[in-house]
Amino acid sequence: MAGMPKMKWRFFTMKKLLALVLALVMVLAATSAFADGLLKIGYVQVGHESDWRMANTQNYYDVFTEDAGFELELIDCDNDHALQLAKVREFVQKDFDYIVIDPIQTAGWDDVLKEVQEAGIPCIIADRSVDASSDLYTTAVGTNMTAEGETAGKWLEEYLAGKAAKILVIEGSTGSSAAIGRSEGFNNIAANHPEWEILASQDGDFTQNGGQAVMEDFIKRFPEFDVVVCHNDNEAYGAMDAMDAAGIKYGVDGKIIISFDATKEGLTRTLAGQILCNVECNPIQAVIVMNVIKDIQDGKEIPKFTLVPDEGFCAPGIESSLVTVMTDEVLAARKY
Ligand code: AHR
Repeated sequence: MAGMPKMKWRFFTMKKLLALVLALVMVLAATSAFADGLLKIGYVQVGHESDWRMANTQNYYDVFTEDAGFELELIDCDNDHALQLAKVREFVQKDFDYIVIDPIQTAGWDDVLKEVQEAGIPCIIADRSVDASSDLYTTAVGTNMTAEGETAGKWLEEYLAGKAAKILVIEGSTGSSAAIGRSEGFNNIAANHPEWEILASQDGDFTQNGGQAVMEDFIKRFPEFDVVVCHNDNEAYGAMDAMDAAGIKYGVDGKIIISFDATKEGLTRTLAGQILCNVECNPIQAVIVMNVIKDIQDGKEIPKFTLVPDEGFCAPGIESSLVTVMTDEVLAARKY
């Protein structure tokens, strides 16, 4: 620059500075959620273990779109609690606007929830629940899993009308609020029935393969049983595969199968009289979560918990004062 007039040099430096600031603004605009007006949502999903889960994931992609003002990063945690914690911490580091957690297990959340809170990021617990103080998260959205278990128990109570029964339970993933709640609810009703005997209760991990493996084992260990309670539809399909292979009849003239979720396929099997009672757990929850987020954005007061309602269904030909008897119309209306 030697020999360049002073004025020209200053002008050149100013131009360079302006260009630098402009480039910086452009980079920020490309990377910042605020600059493009989109809210960054991080969702740590449980995994892909069941049809219910796939419907729930799809529902989040359908609802949290860019057109609706969101940038969604959904992580499939493949039922790995440690990975789920690590991903929440990653969202904190990246300074997401909201973090949504569908907890794989109820335990072990205190530290990470505190970190989210200290970072000032609103945190929503969705679908399942955590065993932590509700002061540690902003709000929760989900079904009442204990009530679901009680619905199943009450339906069985009505159906058996005092008859004795030997019961097998294929549980959902150990430590999940879905499995804990459904067991607790069903056991609450079973406690009033000394004529019911729960022979065994074993983890089928909410999967079809898990349900089949547990049922194969049950068939070997318990030659006599009357009822199989499966904590979700996929486990029920696995249990049915195992019973088919062993030549065991189920349905109105055979073993009683009770299931949870009431997915389209599950209700198809209820309509066909194979699963006698199917208690719904609605996976269409993203719009409720989105409305909660909108309310927070608008500075509105939000409840600590929003219940996703659900109902029970039973096979045609069964009279029930508690659950809906399946029809073609009910099945046609089922979206997931
Ligand atoms: O948390 C909901 C439960 O988890 C559903 O019943 C099951 O299908 C899923 O995997």
